[in-house]
Amino acid sequence: MKNFPTVSTYQVLKNRKSILKNPLPFHHRNFERLGDTFKVNIGPSGAILFTRSPEYIRQVLQKQHKKYHKSTLQTRDLAKYIGKGLLTSNGEHWRTHRRMVQPAFHKKKLEVLLHIMHAAIRKELERIQPSESKDMLPLMGDLAFQVVAQSLFSRDDIQSEMEALKQIAETNQNMLIREMRQPFMNWWFKLSGEIKRHLSYSKQARELLDTIIQERIVSASEKDDLLDMLLKARYEDGTSMSRQQLIDELLILFTAGHETTANALSFTLFLLAKNQKQQQKAFNSIARVDLNGSNLMETLPQLSYIKQCIEEGMRLYPPAYYIDRMSIKEDKFGDYTIPKDSMILLAIYELHRDATFWEAPEEFQPERFDPSVKKDFQEYYYPFGAGPRMCVGNNFAMYEMILVVAEILKKYELNAVTKEVEINPLITLKPKEVILKFAPR
Ligand code: HEM
Repeated sequence: MKNFPTVSTYQVLKNRKSILKNPLPFHHRNFERLGDTFKVNIGPSGAILFTRSPEYIRQVLQKQHKKYHKSTLQTRDLAKYIGKGLLTSNGEHWRTHRRMVQPAFHKKKLEVLLHIMHAAIRKELERIQPSESKDMLPLMGDLAFQVVAQSLFSRDDIQSEMEALKQIAETNQNMLIREMRQPFMNWWFKLSGEIKRHLSYSKQARELLDTIIQERIVSASEKDDLLDMLLKARYEDGTSMSRQQLIDELLILFTAGHETTANALSFTLFLLAKNQKQQQKAFNSIARVDLNGSNLMETLPQLSYIKQCIEEGMRLYPPAYYIDRMSIKEDKFGDYTIPKDSMILLAIYELHRDATFWEAPEEFQPERFDPSVKKDFQEYYYPFGAGPRMCVGNNFAMYEMILVVAEILKKYELNAVTKEVEINPLITLKPKEVILKFAPR
C-alpha cells in the first residue's frame, strides 16, 4: 500500500487519547485532508486502509467480494467468545451455513415470526410509565434481546436463562473491547487469567443453550420459531447441523441481532423527539392504522413514513459504522494496488454524511427515503452492508423497528431531555445516553 496518502504512526500516537475515546473525529479530519481513501500506519509492521469511496466500497462488498474476507477481528477475536457462525466465518464454511440459515429469514417465515415479535414488543413497552423520563438504550437493549429470544425459542419460562445469557454477552463484549483498544495489554489479560475467565462464561452460555435445545428436541413440539427452522435445516447431503454448530449460530443471532437494533432504535427515537415536525408527521401517518389486525404483514406497508424515519436514523447513526475486510488476493482500485493481506475499513458513517452525495447531510430528513422520489441513494447507503454477506436479519430488524416506533408514537409524544446525543463508538455505534420524556397522547 505504498502509494496511498498516509497518516503516520507519529500522528496516531500523538492523538491516541482522543482516538481511544472516539476515533471518528480523527478519521474525519484525515478524510478531509487526504481524500476518500488513505492508509494509517500502525507501527513498523502494519497499516490499515480506510475508505469512504462508494466505488471502492461497492468493489469490496459486491463486485470483487471474492478477493476479500472478514478480518481476524471477527473470525478470531470475536469468534473465540461466540464461536464460528455466520458472522464470524469465511469461505466454504460460511457459504454452506448461509444457505441453511437464510431461508429462516424469508418473508413467508417472517410473517409467522412477526406475531411473536409483536407480542414481545408490546410486553416490553409496558415498562414505560406515562409522563416518565427514561434512558432509551437500556430499554431498547432489553426489548431487542427479548424479541430475538422469543423469535428463537418462543418461551416465557426461561427468563432467568435469558438474563444470564445477556449478562454474559455484555461482559464478554466489554472484555473484547478492552483487548481491541489496548492490544499492548493482551499479554497481561492472558497472564492474569482474564481471558480464561471470560472464555468460561462463554462455556456457560453454550451449556445453557444446549439445555434449551435438548428440551425442545425431547418435547418434540412444533413451534414455527427460528430454533425450529434451524433444527430442520439440512446440508446438501440431507444431514443436519451438529449441536455445537447450532449453538454457534444461535449465539451469533443473539449477538448480531440485538445490539444493532437497540442502537438504531435509540438514535431514531432521539431524532424524532428532537424533530417535532417529523414526529408529528410520523404520528399523523399512523394515527388511523390498526396495529391489532391479524395480518401484520399487510399492515406494514401503511407504516412507510415510520420506515423512512428509521432509514434516516441509520443514515445518520449506522450501528455498523465500520465494516472490516482483509484482502485475500491482490486487487486494483484506480491507480492503486491493494496487496494481498491488507486490512481495510469501510467507513460507512463517513459515507452516510458525505456532502457530495447527501444534501444537508447533518439534518434529519426522512423525506430523502420517500419511495415515490426515485433516487439512487442505494449506492451511498449501507446500514446492512451489501453483497453476499449483507445482513441476513435486515428484514427482521426493519419489521421489528417499525413496530416499536409505531407502537410508541401511537401512545406517546416524545420529548428530548437529552439535548445533544453523544456517540459511543464501540464494536457497534451506540449513544451514550438518550433520555426521553413520554407524554401520553
Ligand atoms: C438495525 C439492525 C441491524 C443492523 C444495522 C445490522 C447490520 C449488519 C451488517 C452491516 C452486517 C454485515 C457485516 C459485514 O459485511 O461485515 C450484518 C451481518 C449480519 N447480521 Fe445484521 N444487522 C442488524 C440486525 C440483525 C438482526 C436482527 C439479525 C438476526 C436476528 C442479524 C443477523 C446478522 C447476521 C447473522 C449477519 C452475518 C451475515 C453473514 O455474514 O452471512 N442482524 N448485519
